Amino acid sequence: MFRMYDLIEKKKNKEELKEEEIAYIVSGFTRGEILDYQMSAFLMAVYFCGMTKKETFLLTQKMKESGDVLDLSGISGIKVDKHSTGGVGDKTTLVLAPMIASLGVPVAKMSGRGLGHTGGTIDKLEAFPGFMTSLPEEKFISNVNQYKIAVAGQTKNLAPADKKIYALRDATACVNSIPLIASSIMSKKLASGADGICLDVKVGSGAFMKTIDDATLLAKTMVDIGRAADKKMVAVLTNMDEPLGCAVGNTLEVMEAIDSLRGNGPKDFMEVVFALGSEMLMMAEVCQSKEQAIKMLSSTISDGSALETFKTFVEIQGGNRQDVDHMEDLLDISCKKEVISLEEGYVSSIEAEQIGNASMLLGGGRASKEDTIDLSVGVILHKKVGDKVQKNESIATIYGNSRDLVEIAIKKVRDAYTFRKEKTMPNQMVLKIIK
Ligand code: URA
Repeated sequence: MFRMYDLIEKKKNKEELKEEEIAYIVSGFTRGEILDYQMSAFLMAVYFCGMTKKETFLLTQKMKESGDVLDLSGISGIKVDKHSTGGVGDKTTLVLAPMIASLGVPVAKMSGRGLGHTGGTIDKLEAFPGFMTSLPEEKFISNVNQYKIAVAGQTKNLAPADKKIYALRDATACVNSIPLIASSIMSKKLASGADGICLDVKVGSGAFMKTIDDATLLAKTMVDIGRAADKKMVAVLTNMDEPLGCAVGNTLEVMEAIDSLRGNGPKDFMEVVFALGSEMLMMAEVCQSKEQAIKMLSSTISDGSALETFKTFVEIQGGNRQDVDHMEDLLDISCKKEVISLEEGYVSSIEAEQIGNASMLLGGGRASKEDTIDLSVGVILHKKVGDKVQKNESIATIYGNSRDLVEIAIKKVRDAYTFRKEKTMPNQMVLKIIK
C-alpha cells in the first residue's frame, strides 16, 4: 500500500515513479480515495519536475484503462483517427472525414466539445437539427462499416480519470504541462480504438503551444506514447497564429466546411486539410506517396463524392441532408455588422485568441463546461494575413444576437488585426511533420 504523501515527495525530488505507484494514483483519485488537495500537489510537482518517457506512457495507459476501451475490430480495414490540439476556426474534421471516407477508408472518430476560445467538432455538428452526437456503440460501428464514417461525442465512460484530472488541472493552473497534455489527449485517443492516429498540433498565439520547440516536444511525446501502444502515428505541426480559414462560430464554420467540400475552401484551411489528409491516406496504406494522396483527395472534391458523403453522414446521424444545401436558413441572428478598418496597409497578424474570445463573448463558446452556446453567432474574416486593406474597408462581419455584444466584438476583432505599410506574406501553414 502506498501513501500519497510519499509519492508527492518522490515526484518533487524528480525520482521516477513505478507502474504500481502511477496505477495507485490514477485509480485512487478516480474512485475519490485520493483527495483534491493531494492530487493538486502531485500535479503541480509534475508541472515543475516533468515526467520521464516511461512515466508519461504509464500515466496514459492507466487513464485509458480507467474506463471503456472501444473495440473497433468489427470494422474491416485500417481505421484512422485525427485529433487537433485545439484552435480557432478549426473545422478540419468536417471536411477531412468525408473526404477520407469517400475514398473507402473507415473514419471512426470520437470528438470533443469546445472550451474557452477554441471550438469543438461536436458543437459544430449540432448546427444540424436532429443530429445525434451520441451514438450507441453498435450503431457507431455499423455506420463505419456501411458508410465508412461516424463522428460522435466521447462517451461518459471514456477515460473518466482524465476528465477528473483535467478539471483539477484547469482549476489549479496545471493545464500547460507537456506530459499532462500528452497523456490526457492520448488516453482518450487510445481508448477510442483506431489503428492509426494523425495529430494536428497547433502552434502559435491561438494555441496551447506558442513555439515550434514546445509543439515539437508535445508532438514527439504523443507520437512516442502511441507507438509504444502499437498504433501508427504521425503529427503535423500547423500554424495557429491567425484563425484557420475565415469563419469562427459553430454554424458559420459548418457553412465554410460545406463551401470547402464544394471546392471553395480558403487557401490556408485547405492546405491544412490536404496535409493531414495525405498523412491519413498513407497511414491507411491506400497510397504510397504524398503526390498520389493529394490527387486522390482532390478528386473527392471535384467529383462531388466528399460532399455526397457529408450529406449521407448528416442523414445517418439523424439530421436532414437537405439542410446541407440551405445552411444559411439555420442561422438565427438578429444583428449583423461590419468591422470597418480605421487603417490602410497589409495585414501582418490577426490574434487568433482575440477572435476566439470575440466569438465566445457573442455567446458562441463556453467559459465553463456547463454553459450553453448560441450556435448562430460568430465572426467572418474578410481579410487574412498578407491581404491589402484600404481605410474604411470591411475586414470582418460580426453575427450576433445582442447589439451591445456586437459592438464589443467589433472592437475586439479590430484590435486583433495588426497592419504594416510594407507588403506582408500569408502565413506558412504546415510547419513540421513528425513521424
Ligand atoms: N486537450 C486535452 O484533451 N487535454 C489537455 O490536457 C489539453 C488539451
